[in-house]
Parts: sequence; C-alpha cells; structure tokens
Amino acid sequence: MDGMGFMYTLAYMDFEAELAASELWAMTGACAEGRLAFSRVGCDISPAAYTRLCLRVLAAAEDTETLISRVSELRLSAEGFAIEVVKVSPKPMVHSLELCRQLADVVAGAPDLDSPRVRYAVAATQGRCWFGQVMSMACRNWHDSHARPGHFSNSLPVRMARALVNLVAAPGDSLVDPCCGAGTVLIEAALVGVRAEGFDVSWPRVAQSRQNLSYFGLSVPVARADARRLEGRWDAAVADLPYGHTSMADDDLYADIVGNIAARVRRLVVVTGAEKSYLWNQMGLRMLGSARVPTSNVIRHVYLLAGLRKG
Ligand SMILES: C[S@@+](CC[C@H](N)C(=O)[O-])C[C@H]1O[C@@H](n2cnc3c(N)ncnc32)[C@H](O)[C@@H]1O
Repeated sequence: MDGMGFMYTLAYMDFEAELAASELWAMTGACAEGRLAFSRVGCDISPAAYTRLCLRVLAAAEDTETLISRVSELRLSAEGFAIEVVKVSPKPMVHSLELCRQLADVVAGAPDLDSPRVRYAVAATQGRCWFGQVMSMACRNWHDSHARPGHFSNSLPVRMARALVNLVAAPGDSLVDPCCGAGTVLIEAALVGVRAEGFDVSWPRVAQSRQNLSYFGLSVPVARADARRLEGRWDAAVADLPYGHTSMADDDLYADIVGNIAARVRRLVVVTGAEKSYLWNQMGLRMLGSARVPTSNVIRHVYLLAGLRKG
C-alpha cells in the first residue's frame, strides 16, 4: 500500500535496524520495510528515537517528474509551508533543492522555511517516490550524553535508551528502571512525559543517576534497592540488566530480577549481553519481540516481554 494512507520514514545506523523496526511497531503497529513503513493509521511519533516522520500520503509516482505533475493536480494551497526531501536507501539521483523548488511552484501560498505552519515532505528511493503532508515528526530532544556530569562505562547509548522507553511506555504511563545505573533510561523517560522511578543496588550509581537527572532539571525519584526484592506496581519496566566484565551476572540473578519485576508491570523490556530467550521460556514469560544491537564490544539483546501484573 503506498498510494493512500500514511507512511513513516526511519533514520538509523545499520546496526540499529532491528531496534528501530521494533520501536516503530510498538509505537504505531506498522511494520518497517527498511527505512520506510506504510500504514492505514497515522500516529504521533514525536517521542521516537528512530522514526522521523509520519506523512499522510497525497501522491506517489515512479519518478519525480510524474510526482510533480500529480502534486500539481491536487491544487494544494497552504500559507507558510515548507517542503523537505528524505532520500531513503537505495538513494535515488535526485537534486533535493531543485525538487523542492519545483514542488513549491505547484503549491499555492507563500513558503515559510523558518517557522512553517504546514510541512510537506518527499520520500524518495530508487524507482519510487511519495509526496505527503507531515502529520507528526520526531522532536529528537534526547539528551547529550557528553554533557551530563556522571559517566558510567556500562551506560546505554542515549538514543537506544529512548527507543527502549518507547517500546513499553507512552507519555503519562508509569515506568520503573530497577537497574538504573547512571540514569540514562530515566532521563529519556522523563523527557517524553513518562512518570519514571529508578532503583539500583549500588549507592554510587544512585548518586550518579540523581546527579545526572538534576543536571537536566528533571525530577525523578531514585532510591537504592535490590531489584530482586523491589516492591510496587508500574505500567512498564525497562531493565538493562548487569552484564559485561564489570558485573557478576548469571541466570539465577536474571531470573530473580526479571521474575520479580514482571509480576509488577504489564510489559517490560529487558536488555542482556547474551542470548537469553531460553530463560524467559523457562520462566513462562511471553516474548512479544526481540532485537539485537551489536556494537564493537558487546551485542546487546533486547527482549520485549509481557508482564504478569493483573489489574
Ligand atoms: C548495565 S548497568 C545499567 C546501566 C544503565 N542503563 C545506564 O544507562 O547507565 C546494570 C546496573 O544494574 C545494577 N545492579 C546489579 N545488580 C542489581 C540488583 N540486584 N538490583 C538492582 N540493581 C542491580 C548495577 O549496579 C548497574 O548499575
């Protein structure tokens, strides 16, 4: 389906492909085909890490010349509009500025590139292009990890942390991070309006999370606790479990933490440094999805699990 309905464009590095597709699916129900997705439903993707635009598709064609002529037939009129071109791999030989200029000529009204009231976009790949009105765009307000005062070698990349939040929570939901480390997930959750709460067994990490949150002016409660014995109820959890050479993590610890947290939430995302789907199966937890995110020193495994909380 590409003539009508909505399309999403994604922006990610190749190693993030699986997580990007999972985030899109969790936020919109759409299935990514590379860096594009089509859907009958247009959703707010403003908190997204890897989805960049949601367009209501107005015209589609095999080449830009035909696309311009189809857009012209629409007789669009908009005061203060802007047009952008998104080239999607495999990238076409398209001159973006020239295409924008030609499209602007067939839209009635004055363009306003500084503060547009109406945004249009062209998504172009080899052999196909689409023109649409932007219904939602990612605000990309994730924090600058270099700016924060507290650094921890096992911290998640910021954009990945944002995607993990989006896998399980929407603005207004409550979320627990039971192994919060330096607070990366808590910061991203707070920035998109998720009501987060953090815990860590290590006092230095608790202090670091508090320091980082306060640096960004965010108010999120963080306390010291062992995730195996944590009490409470939340909508969702993001658990970036201990892994790597700095921690003594084994399956018993994972089962104890995940077993306790799963009982207290409706859905949870768990990150490990090795393949662990057998463990969730042994524990009787339902796996809704998974993604691998390889980096130079670790392959992070991301598991989306159904929680066991009733009511
Ligand atoms: C991979 S790190 C989390 C990093 C974090 N997501 C960040 O971006 O900074 C795992 C964390 O789990 C904590 N941890 C280990 N065992 C724990 C337990 N039983 N309960 C709570 N936290 C625990 C460690 O202190 C460590 O901070």
